[in-house]
Amino acid sequence: MKQFKNFKAVYEKPRGKRFILLTKNIVPGKKVYDEPLIKDKGIEYREWNPNRSKLAAALMKGINDIHIKENDYILYLGAASGTTASHLSDIIGNKGFIYAVDFSPRVVRDLVFVAENRKNIAPILADASKPETYYKNISNVDVIYQDIAQREQADIFLGNFKFLKNNGTAILCVKARSVDIAKKPKQIFKEMRERLEKETKIIDYKELGPFEKDHAIFICKKK
Ligand SMILES: C[S@@+](CC[C@H](N)C(=O)[O-])C[C@H]1O[C@@H](n2cnc3c(N)ncnc32)[C@H](O)[C@@H]1O
Repeated sequence: MKQFKNFKAVYEKPRGKRFILLTKNIVPGKKVYDEPLIKDKGIEYREWNPNRSKLAAALMKGINDIHIKENDYILYLGAASGTTASHLSDIIGNKGFIYAVDFSPRVVRDLVFVAENRKNIAPILADASKPETYYKNISNVDVIYQDIAQREQADIFLGNFKFLKNNGTAILCVKARSVDIAKKPKQIFKEMRERLEKETKIIDYKELGPFEKDHAIFICKKK
């Protein structure tokens, strides 16, 4: 198993003419969704599917750096049942921590089961557009990661910047169709860039097709 580019806790393995992405399983023997577990030299890895995770899609599309490392604290908005959150949990390790926010009781129930094994995930049932309802439960973080299919994605993202450390990184996954079904995705991404540039410094950007059609990812820093 070889490290994937300069991403310390992400690995790659050849498969046919291509390759797959993996993270080291911090809970050996346990799957989170239906990901294959692969052993190499006594270490267990979990396959990270770019069709199931926008962050894995961004890595496959050649994003320069996701700025997430061992021991980081992460505020994850729209964690759902923990697919991507579980790979972040592998990357940050047991000294890192994820505040995993979602407003759907159904998915948070699944997330609670994931967090039973993964002690670095705290599920929080809350609406990310109302940070005042959970600010007491979280500390400042190194990374904000947002994957919320809502019209007000940008407002929610920027509304949570108060939790980001000064040198922290904020990652926004944008689903164009949720912002405005009538507009072309390229137009939505352009408008989103203009909006974000007013309040943040965008350091990287990728469109995520064909893994995630009509989605893009922005990597931002505080201005
Ligand atoms: C596309 S799914 C997230 C998938 C997940 N990030 C992953 O990669 O495993 C979007 C999630 O955002 C949640 N969501 C949407 N609006 C929200 C809000 N205002 N506050 C919290 N969660 C929200 C939904 O309940 C849903 O679980």
